[in-house]
Amino acid sequence: MYFEMRGTSLFGDPWIILGLVLLLLCAGCTSNNTINPNTWTSYKADAKSTSYSPLDQINVSNVNQLQTAWTFQAADLDQGDKPVSSQSNPIIIDGVMYANSAKQSVHAINAKTGEEIWTCKVLAEGEPSAASRGVTYWEDGSDKRILYSAGNDLLAIDATTGKIIPSFGQEGRVDLNVGVRDDPDKISITLTTPGRLFKDLIIIGSRLPDFYGSPPGYVRAYNVKTGELVWTFHTIPHPGEPGYETWPPDAYQYAGGVNCWGGMSVDAERGMVFLALGSPSFDFYGADRIGANLYGNSVLALDAATGFYKWHFQTVHHDIWDYDLPCPPNLISIKQEGKEIDAVAQATKQGFIFVLDRDTGEPLFPVEERKVPASNLPGEVAYETQPFPVKPKPFVRQSMTEDDLNQFSTSDHEANLKTFRSLRFEGLFTPPDLKGTLSIPATRGGANWGGGAFDPATDYLYIRGNNLPEIQTIVDANEYVQAQNNTSYELGRVSYVTHCASCHGKNREGIMPSFPAVDDLRNRITEKETRLKILQGGGQMPGYKGVLTSSEIDGIMAFLYDMKDESIEVPQPILKEEKPMRYMNITPYREWRDPSGNPALKPPWATLNALNVSTGEYEWQIPLGNNEKLQETGAPNTGLLGRSGPMVTAGGLVFISGAADSKLWAFNKYTGELIWETLLPAPNNANVCSYAIDGKQFIALSVGGTTENPSGSIMAFALP
Ligand code: HEC
Repeated sequence: MYFEMRGTSLFGDPWIILGLVLLLLCAGCTSNNTINPNTWTSYKADAKSTSYSPLDQINVSNVNQLQTAWTFQAADLDQGDKPVSSQSNPIIIDGVMYANSAKQSVHAINAKTGEEIWTCKVLAEGEPSAASRGVTYWEDGSDKRILYSAGNDLLAIDATTGKIIPSFGQEGRVDLNVGVRDDPDKISITLTTPGRLFKDLIIIGSRLPDFYGSPPGYVRAYNVKTGELVWTFHTIPHPGEPGYETWPPDAYQYAGGVNCWGGMSVDAERGMVFLALGSPSFDFYGADRIGANLYGNSVLALDAATGFYKWHFQTVHHDIWDYDLPCPPNLISIKQEGKEIDAVAQATKQGFIFVLDRDTGEPLFPVEERKVPASNLPGEVAYETQPFPVKPKPFVRQSMTEDDLNQFSTSDHEANLKTFRSLRFEGLFTPPDLKGTLSIPATRGGANWGGGAFDPATDYLYIRGNNLPEIQTIVDANEYVQAQNNTSYELGRVSYVTHCASCHGKNREGIMPSFPAVDDLRNRITEKETRLKILQGGGQMPGYKGVLTSSEIDGIMAFLYDMKDESIEVPQPILKEEKPMRYMNITPYREWRDPSGNPALKPPWATLNALNVSTGEYEWQIPLGNNEKLQETGAPNTGLLGRSGPMVTAGGLVFISGAADSKLWAFNKYTGELIWETLLPAPNNANVCSYAIDGKQFIALSVGGTTENPSGSIMAFALP
């Protein structure tokens, strides 16, 4: 291709021959650009987030002989503790596996035998852990480092010894709360998806609370040796920066969110980083941020060395649905009209895949701006149009009618019908409404953090899709605020409804299995632990440090521990200032279920999809996972919600796990046929990886905890 373009014959030019020789030589070299097939160098395989393994020892003809090679048990918890589940995608360098447990200890493990080499306990005793999807490895000669984030810190750990490297930052730690717009003592910035390297930089995003008063999600790059901040990109632009005009003039001083929590990819040759950005806060009401709100919900390309803007593509304008970009953009190549084009594929919560030119951000399939419904909420101005790719088609449902409601029982069906008819629903991008809005897909639907896997041999992109309708219940926040009297308990009750009820239920009953009940805390956890949990969050729960005042936290404590009689008077006025108009969604992040607890939508609830990115057509789409109890006789599998992503291999296989049925599956990557499955000891909630040592290929993944071993494990599989 390259030679034809130059119009010379292949062997006519000595420079080209030299080039060829160098190219062949480089096939064996270990520069940054060549992938060693035996390793899994970073989160999702490589800096391009391909989740692809070039290994083929385990293949279509022998995968059914796979057996457990070893199991590594994390040991953060005691028997009888509540089981936890790590989202870590292990990485493997020089025969050593590095991965974090659910409680955020970092482990170095002999990747051949599963034996521990070292464990670094990063969190202090009792410090709450949060979701973390892995670690980043960097080396320069004998200086080998693991960069990792826990609590509000970015840390450097010596990869050989497991000791924290004191010369990095302050005693081995960089405080992520420092250096964004807001007072570091009043915010809590954490990292769920590991940072990516570019030369001696580690580029990181952040995880923030999705609420009024959140800090902005600036993207930052630090020197891996010193921990020094090298550049910052304002994802909510300042005056004079491009995109500033898409916000009210002062918004850069108060608006929050627009953070990269889903992940990023790096093109080392181009020197570019591609970020998947989330929505601005508050997620369901944007009267204080009228405008398109760049770079919210955008794929953003930056110069990796300097953080300078290259291009962006916004997938949702003025988001009021929490349609964060949930996973790293996959750096892929597609073929169009005989040409190979380097591209970026971004999967979204709406279930779209945007395929963009890697150099310019131009869509490689047509995208139409279509008119969408207007908002009825006072003060809100929904954006008039939203981008719809004409191709590829969405990989999840974006609409439903009465006929799509489940038929498991007549009474539930009637209840669902009544609910359905009471809601506002005008298709994708129906704005949140006081009447209640149906969202499909919703806050957790379409793609999730597991993201896609790209196979360079077939040009197929594999992606898991969740069909998950939600009901958005919008309430006037100030109505709650006005309802209060001046006792601490009452203030707590109001604050609870405002900040906590969306996950823990209006009556503190919780939403199983995702969100625990908090109506019985006195029997389970100490007040001190609860206070810490509120301040720092953990798991899927955001931290409220800086979001809640100390009297609000005292009040919530009084409310949670039923200290009505002991309740103290709070001096009036409780509120610091006149509250602006604010609405809340008190039922996000929960699937619409019928009175018996079954999904209100007919199956399939989840699918695995193989998209040919060159043609924009799906090669196959299958339900993923099964609820045998709800599957009707002879009907296809029901599919089951899951968040982790697939891995594709040169052995012709797609591996994926992560549904409640605790299965790990291997599918034929060409046809979607199920070839092998195994029952794990507990559900997994993490991406799979593959590597080889001494000629033996392994498949490995983090697995959730059990009653006997609540900390969870890492399991590796291999052929006998
Ligand atoms: C986005 C959802 C979400 C919100 C909002 C939320 N939480 Fe949580 N919360 C969770 C999840 C998930 C857990 C379990 C995670 C874990 O144990 O690490 C949890 C755990 C807890 C626990 C520990 C319960 C136990 O059994 O150990 C307490 C206490 C708690 N939350 C209180 C609150 C309070 C108070 C608020 C409001 C200020 C709040 N949460 C807001 C999701 C949420």
